[in-house]
Amino acid sequence: MATIGIFYGSTEGNTERVVTRIQELLGGPDATALHNVNSATADDMQSYDVLILACPTWEIGQLQEDWNTFVDELEDVDFNGKKVTYVGLGDADGYPDTFLDALGIIHDKIKDKGATFIGAWSTDGYDFEGSKGVVGGKFLGLAIDEDNQKDLTEERITRWVEQVKGELA
Ligand SMILES: Cc1cc2nc3c(=O)[nH]c(=O)nc-3n(C[C@H](O)[C@H](O)[C@H](O)COP(=O)(O)O)c2cc1C
Repeated sequence: MATIGIFYGSTEGNTERVVTRIQELLGGPDATALHNVNSATADDMQSYDVLILACPTWEIGQLQEDWNTFVDELEDVDFNGKKVTYVGLGDADGYPDTFLDALGIIHDKIKDKGATFIGAWSTDGYDFEGSKGVVGGKFLGLAIDEDNQKDLTEERITRWVEQVKGELA
């Protein structure tokens, strides 16, 4: 059974494409399961040792709409012993003050619930003003900008997945 669960929401498909690629690089469906939060529950989350929470930021600093509905489910998850990381999508040029804010919004809900957080990612190479997704000088997880830096996406995903594999080893 898969031990890594990726939980994602995606309004226009960018996040879905990114997490599908991450799933491939993390051993495919046998090792890593994909759950769209539009049909997921706290029980689904509970069964994984490693959680990847993937959310684009929408409506100027808000959670993507399906995440907005799902986010209260996090209160019913026991995060003790779990490793958690994030994937954020955003548009640094269009929304420089709220770039990837969704990651910080989700993180605030779970940061004190016993999980170990992995996969922090350097802000080098991103041009933005402010982000709730940055904690301690780094993004909380992988940062992807399909609107302005699409050509960097594959390389960023590959490098981040290698980093996460190392942190899980
Ligand atoms: C109306 C609107 C508001 C947005 N607000 C933000 C924002 O505040 N911060 C950000 O980083 N990206 C913002 N974005 C960019 C999206 O997060 C980005 O396009 C993302 O790739 C969409 O992912 P999805 O296709 O998985 O829904 C916004 C986009 C739109 C159209």
